[in-house]
Amino acid sequence: PTAATGPRADGSARTVIVTGGAGGLGRAFALGFAGRGHDVVVADVNAEGAAETARLVEAEGRRALAVTVDVTSPESTEAMAQEAAAFGGGRIDVLVNNAAIYATVTRSPLEEIDPAEWDLVMGVNLKGPWLCARACSPYLGEGSSVINLSSATVYSGSENWLHYVASKSGVIGLTRVMAKELGRRGITVNAVAPGFTLTEASYGLMPDAATYGVDRGALKRASEPQDIVGAALFLAGQDSSYVTGQTLVVDGGRQF
Ligand code: NAI
Repeated sequence: PTAATGPRADGSARTVIVTGGAGGLGRAFALGFAGRGHDVVVADVNAEGAAETARLVEAEGRRALAVTVDVTSPESTEAMAQEAAAFGGGRIDVLVNNAAIYATVTRSPLEEIDPAEWDLVMGVNLKGPWLCARACSPYLGEGSSVINLSSATVYSGSENWLHYVASKSGVIGLTRVMAKELGRRGITVNAVAPGFTLTEASYGLMPDAATYGVDRGALKRASEPQDIVGAALFLAGQDSSYVTGQTLVVDGGRQF
């Protein structure tokens, strides 16, 4: 069996790294994994937010480490992985590649996208997960899992958001290749593609987030962070040990 939850065979707690853990979904992942007994490395470019999430994890009774990282930097992601591995007793059990930019990304037609902003979006959202996986790879082993955040918007193809949608589409391909390469070592790699989820960032993007588009979904309600956390816990746990290379759409049934 691969991808287990609960303590390791030697009784020590599993260690999860959540990138972009300073708030939003990342904080929800951190607390969700803490609730399942994992120790948590909260990695974010926002040091203050990461420290606050780490405090919340500790309040749940788990060990936590806040790490300042820029996921676009090879040096910074290497340092993150080394710190996380030291914290995790030489091993990283789960990597959640959650850091991304989207609410601050300018929405414009393809003719008007600023090439510098295109590079920025690709750098954080697509190169970032690769660099984090590359840095963590030496510390992942049999039973470890990587979870990449894509987005349900890749299936609908939101207008005026080509750079963001392309970056999150890339995450699906990246997930498949990583699954094949890391699968030889018993590591599962999957993606979660959330639909519009109620976080501070999504409210910033759309003040009517709680009601926007809910009629199009089978379940007629907006997604809460907890809905997405559940999918990640499944993909990191033993109930999904034979699932790899997949993208799980968690959008309340909006895409069919
Ligand atoms: P958020 O903006 O609250 O969180 C993203 C985090 O990433 C922030 O804490 C930010 O500081 C961090 N970050 C940004 N650039 C970074 C860098 N270079 N290095 C390290 N950290 C960096 O966003 P939210 O809503 O929590 O989304 C989390 C993930 O879920 C993202 O990957 C997003 O694309 C994805 N997603 C979110 C949806 C939503 O409706 N909230 C829908 C579909 C996907």
